[in-house]
Amino acid sequence: MHRTKTCGELRISDAGSTVTLAGWVQRSRKMGGMTFVDLRDRYGITQLVFDSETDPELHEAANKLGREYVVQVTGKVAERSNKNPNIPTGDIEIIATGLNVLNKSDIPPFTIEDETDGGDDLRMKYRYLDLRRPAVRKNLELRHRMAFEIRRYLDSKGFLEVETPVLIKSTPEGARDFVVPSRMNPGQFYALPQSPQTFKQLLMVSGFDRYFQIVKCFRDEDLRADRQPEFTQIDCEMSFVDQEDVLEMFEGLVKHIFKYVKDIDFSEPFPRMTWADAMRLYGSDKPDTRFGMQFVELKDLTEGSGFSVMDDAKYVGAIVAPGCAGYTRKQLDKLTDFVKRPQVGAKGMMWVKYEADGSIKSSVGKFFTDEQLKGWLERGEAKPGDLMLILAGDTMKTRKQLCELRLEMGSQLGLRDPQKFSCLWVVDFPLFEWDEETQRYYAMHHPFTAPNPDDVDMLDSDTGAVRATAYDMVVNGNELGGGSIRIHDSQLQDKMFRLLGLSEEDAQYKFGFLMNAFKYGAPPHGGLAFGFDRFVSILAGLDSIRDVIAFPKNNAGRDMMIDAPSEIDDSQLDELCIKVDLEEA
Ligand code: AMO
Repeated sequence: MHRTKTCGELRISDAGSTVTLAGWVQRSRKMGGMTFVDLRDRYGITQLVFDSETDPELHEAANKLGREYVVQVTGKVAERSNKNPNIPTGDIEIIATGLNVLNKSDIPPFTIEDETDGGDDLRMKYRYLDLRRPAVRKNLELRHRMAFEIRRYLDSKGFLEVETPVLIKSTPEGARDFVVPSRMNPGQFYALPQSPQTFKQLLMVSGFDRYFQIVKCFRDEDLRADRQPEFTQIDCEMSFVDQEDVLEMFEGLVKHIFKYVKDIDFSEPFPRMTWADAMRLYGSDKPDTRFGMQFVELKDLTEGSGFSVMDDAKYVGAIVAPGCAGYTRKQLDKLTDFVKRPQVGAKGMMWVKYEADGSIKSSVGKFFTDEQLKGWLERGEAKPGDLMLILAGDTMKTRKQLCELRLEMGSQLGLRDPQKFSCLWVVDFPLFEWDEETQRYYAMHHPFTAPNPDDVDMLDSDTGAVRATAYDMVVNGNELGGGSIRIHDSQLQDKMFRLLGLSEEDAQYKFGFLMNAFKYGAPPHGGLAFGFDRFVSILAGLDSIRDVIAFPKNNAGRDMMIDAPSEIDDSQLDELCIKVDLEEA
């Protein structure tokens, strides 16, 4: 070994011992006849001291060290006179007696510090340097620890980790596939899995009973902070279970992770909310339940005033922001601008202030009496000092807008603490989603999701109202995972395909292998998949999953470091019988 200790492990009890360390030069400072060098490795930072009086030659060599040089240093551990309480090795320093430069370094394009001066693109281009920053490394350490605990929990429950193929055929998750041309089968393509959904169901037919996999999935969709084109799922499936069994097993997994990784105990069962209630109370199927501010419906109380914004609206909804009656005109205008942004899309916002002295002020005061406005405040259980914010319009659209406003107010009021965790099961999702553009139903989850047994009779008569046995795990307003009980009966599966507008031939072509398998004794089964990147980023208190992925892609789906995607040679294209026509793009 090039070292006897790491840069993170020496303490005051080691004083007097001689050690050899190896690592990167974080920074060096010259002070009089002394040079101090911070040496960094994965485990921490240790201060080295080079004294011109005791060893002028060594001191001179130390002065030539540049940032990120790789060095090996031997020396004696000594107590520091000027201790640094901010780092675990802050009580000691190494009085260097030997220095060996193992490698030089160009000047890095940004500082390798937690607070770096490097912009996003630069850091991504030099991701291998970015990963030297302790803040980024910590996220990957957390990721490792979580993966380890996930395996420990699932193994203890009898789950087998089984790998499934990456070169497959289109999967049913509803995004665009990434495709891979096959040289040996000209004109034919593999698709990369959007999830291992069909394979895990086949493993249930094979009798594996409990499967899991921490697995890469690929989806060609528009990217956001919580979406990457390749991401990782904790994918799970169980046989002979109903919804309750699945929820219990995976609530156990989430609790296990919080306990063993974050030392947080959730003693109570996670709350459950139907999809319909989540939409009604929060305007979202992934409500952030770290704070209240549930929607209050006011339509019936606003009827007949002659105020067309409310009279013409299908829905009038409000939230009550506690203690915000003192909001100034300027603050209210800013909120109005917020809801009018194209991303939110409201036409305007109305407000009622319940002043601390009990008086009422409102932007719609000329259309309504104080008595009426008081009725609204009472329904919202507002107290003196509170502010009611109101939006009106089409039901679903307005709920979504109000959801954005609620989240904004939650942020403004500091109610979305990333170190506080609120977990929720959302259940009873609709089975289908109607698409206006194509005038047909789509599976809200995927086409293998079983209808709620109580609603099977409505499949033909009231298709849109059929509930699915599908569930999502929501944490702090993020969809952490989702799954369902599957259809294991080939006749019902056939019917589902028909309702989704798939002809028999289409269904056979796409999913014939699964349909055939179901003819040979498919057990009742169900499962779910968690987004592993999201899970890690939530526990790390981060907004973007990019920070918990070693080599992520940017918003345009590019890897800036290796410069991918990129063109390929003509000879490669010829071999694959592919012609590129950029005019079509
Ligand atoms: P679903 O499509 O809901 O279900 O995906 C499961 C979870 O994966 C995460 N996720 C993503 N994370 C990062 N980037 C993405 N582009 C991305 N897309 C999804 C989310 C999501 O909750 N086969 C089903 C599961 C099942 O039914 O068992 C499935 O894939 O956290």
